[in-house]
Amino acid sequence: MTDALKQLSDRLGGIAYGGDYNPEQWPREVWDEDVRLMREAGVNLVTVGVFSWAFLEPRPGQYEFELLDEVLDLLHANGIAADLATATASPPPWFSLRHPEALPVTADGVRLTHGSRQTFCPSSPAYAEAAGRLAERLVERYRDHPALALWHLHNEWGNHNAHCYCDSSAKAFRDWLRERYGDLDGLNQAWGTAFWSQRYGDWAEVMPPRATAAVPNPTQQLDFWRFSSDALLRLHRREAEIVRRLSPGIPLTTNLLVTLEKKVDGFSFAGECDFVSVDQYLTAADPEAHVGLSLDADLARGMGGGAPWLLMEHSTSAVNWQPRNVAKTPGQMRRNSLAHVARGADGVLYFQWRQSRAGAEKWHSAMLPHGGTGTKTWREVTALGHDLKALAEVRGSRVESDVALLFDWNAWWALEMDATPSRDVRYLDLVRAWYEALWSLGITCDLVHPSSDLSGHRLVLVPSLSLTSDADASSLDAFVREGGHAAVGFFSGVVDENDHVRLGGHPGAYRDMLGVHVDEFFPLREAETVRLSDGSEATVWTELVEPRGAETIVSFDSDPSYGGPVAGHPAVTRNAHGAGVSWYVATRPDADALRGLLARVCRDAGVTAPAEVPAGVEAVRRRGPDGTYLFLINHTSGDVPVAARGVDLLTGTVADGRTVVRAGDVVVVREDGTPSSDR
Ligand code: GLA
Repeated sequence: MTDALKQLSDRLGGIAYGGDYNPEQWPREVWDEDVRLMREAGVNLVTVGVFSWAFLEPRPGQYEFELLDEVLDLLHANGIAADLATATASPPPWFSLRHPEALPVTADGVRLTHGSRQTFCPSSPAYAEAAGRLAERLVERYRDHPALALWHLHNEWGNHNAHCYCDSSAKAFRDWLRERYGDLDGLNQAWGTAFWSQRYGDWAEVMPPRATAAVPNPTQQLDFWRFSSDALLRLHRREAEIVRRLSPGIPLTTNLLVTLEKKVDGFSFAGECDFVSVDQYLTAADPEAHVGLSLDADLARGMGGGAPWLLMEHSTSAVNWQPRNVAKTPGQMRRNSLAHVARGADGVLYFQWRQSRAGAEKWHSAMLPHGGTGTKTWREVTALGHDLKALAEVRGSRVESDVALLFDWNAWWALEMDATPSRDVRYLDLVRAWYEALWSLGITCDLVHPSSDLSGHRLVLVPSLSLTSDADASSLDAFVREGGHAAVGFFSGVVDENDHVRLGGHPGAYRDMLGVHVDEFFPLREAETVRLSDGSEATVWTELVEPRGAETIVSFDSDPSYGGPVAGHPAVTRNAHGAGVSWYVATRPDADALRGLLARVCRDAGVTAPAEVPAGVEAVRRRGPDGTYLFLINHTSGDVPVAARGVDLLTGTVADGRTVVRAGDVVVVREDGTPSSDR
């Protein structure tokens, strides 16, 4: 994985910089200005053709490549490389009139119509055919074009159409289930159809979870989510096969959506790309949106096994698809972009190069805004181009982290099914709470799949993993027995891969490792709080924990009017297991308490931050063959001194043991004499 991105960035001579380029939206004379300004900004890579299908194939089977020929030639003449899309993300209107059966259908039976984008059923044979034909023609035509540096498969697989309930989907779902279970007995067993008289006697009776009268079968739903992600993966593989066969030597990737997309299992796609690339957008309503950015960046890195990755899209300022689209304040875009680089991105691209005049995204920011070059955004875009040039040597280096946080789309899906103990138990809420506690301690972590090799880490955090396989649970157990540390959140390990409850006491798969036995869950009422023995507060969840070898660290307050339904019982436990240690957190502590707890867990595990920084300052270290780079990003409104020795690559200033990171500023120190990692 690493090599393909390294080759690309070597070809570009540094960190990739650019954005989606959609020249078909503009008259020809604008293109010359585009490339001139791209050069001025230091742009070296643009994504072309993402939504060009209707231009490339204006009528079925009739291909017109003149426009793209000219665009690619122009880019090449100006020394700008192309990330060329397979253009399959938005079938033209003619396609839906020809193939009405390929339009997606909702769970309520409504068939959608073209008029936006990505309006096709992922299991439609007609779509697969048409998209495959287009991709083949494109790859054949451009595989030797000198501007071509990267293939961009589709665009954000499943962003709008991940779940389709039509008859083609029903058929493909049955095929997928046959493959998984072999026969109907296997399916009946896995889905627990003895419950509510759901037993299937014929495959024709098996359906996607279309609208039904009461709570749908949870395993049917879970399998449908798995199947739907796999249906998209099949399309991805089909395009990848075409590219690899016809254009070997040019890497391929697709822009994944990190936590922005619940329905698509990012890990499975990451494994089928030459390197990981992702799109990341701030949540405007979140005052700490830069923490969410870091989380997504650490997930992007985790999806690629720690290798550098490419930020395929983010925004220079406001987006247009949230309820209130907050613009970025001066300096915020720079902090955002460089925070991605700090966390392993070797490329910084935006949606999009030139802000559209018409269409659904005309109010979405871009590198070149409606106001042209006399704007705050343009000034920041050109300045960032210089910053990235100065960071060229950072590319290829890897982020240092002793902590892994387990992240799993399957567990996310299972946790948020209907009819669970509490609707307030939300996957991203728990992951974010734990992540944020760690972030505020200045500690870097990798978000990794539970099946990944954990041995490179000292500490593994499991904020929420209700569903886990036996194999993944054993691997965590072995990690702890061999001397690792782990901390596990409530309602984890409680069900198996089929969403069947693990019997004999909760938290099923982790019971022995944690040395506890949970007798019963006592979720809290909405907005109810309980007090813990250390004086802190907790919400959402309590449960009756009996220690079976574990030591109680914090309890629910012994007074029932404060301690809640399980007053006096353990809330946080610590268990020596083999040569390691495992912690259990049986509630949702408030932010301060969780930070205090994770600080203790980290100390216990010997995990430290890359640099001592106050709250609101990010410190991340990347290590390359020739040295280490300490990124310091100040999100606060005050100047902050940090102990560092080396040269700030962005200004050339020498930090002789101490550097001041100004309010809102970023410093990247190439460190002198960094002791080599003791891992
Ligand atoms: C996604 C898409 C882009 C654009 C942006 C807007 O990332 O890939 O085409 O719609 O969102 O934020």
